[in-house]
Amino acid sequence: MTDRIAFTLNGKPVAPRADPTAPLLDVLRNTLGQTGARYGCGAELCGACMVLVDDVPAYACSREVGTVAGRVVTTVEGLAGHALIRAFLDEQAGQCGYCLSGIIVSAAALLAANPSPTRAEIAAALEPHLCRCGAHPRILRAVAKAAQMLREGAAA
Ligand code: FES
Ligand code: FES
Repeated sequence: MTDRIAFTLNGKPVAPRADPTAPLLDVLRNTLGQTGARYGCGAELCGACMVLVDDVPAYACSREVGTVAGRVVTTVEGLAGHALIRAFLDEQAGQCGYCLSGIIVSAAALLAANPSPTRAEIAAALEPHLCRCGAHPRILRAVAKAAQMLREGAAA
């Protein structure tokens, strides 16, 4: 049984027809063409699927799409131009890149709430995320660099 589920995606209204119990990730990728959020484990164990729902990180692999009706969903595509993108490129913070869209989404939520996070606070915010390439030191550096760029008004 499908239904129209209306929500805001990356600043624009959308109303895909979907089974309300379908995973949000499936609808984002296969119906709405937003492929930034990725499937890794399907069990809230890797963070590859992370998106923001009303600015809070959420696992799109396990979140039913019906629960985002009327809410604001942000994927990594909605963060184009964010200082995090520049900082991750500058620090070459990744190898295969599979984990990065989820990590950048969680980092954006962190920086919105805490403009000057410590290294330990960045690590704690990224705890739900696995990086199989072991790029963690560069990832932590990139988030700290983005925070600095935002504080200095270099990007928004
Ligand atoms: S795919 Fe959602 S946490 Fe791994
Ligand atoms: S860069 Fe490959 S999994 Fe993180």
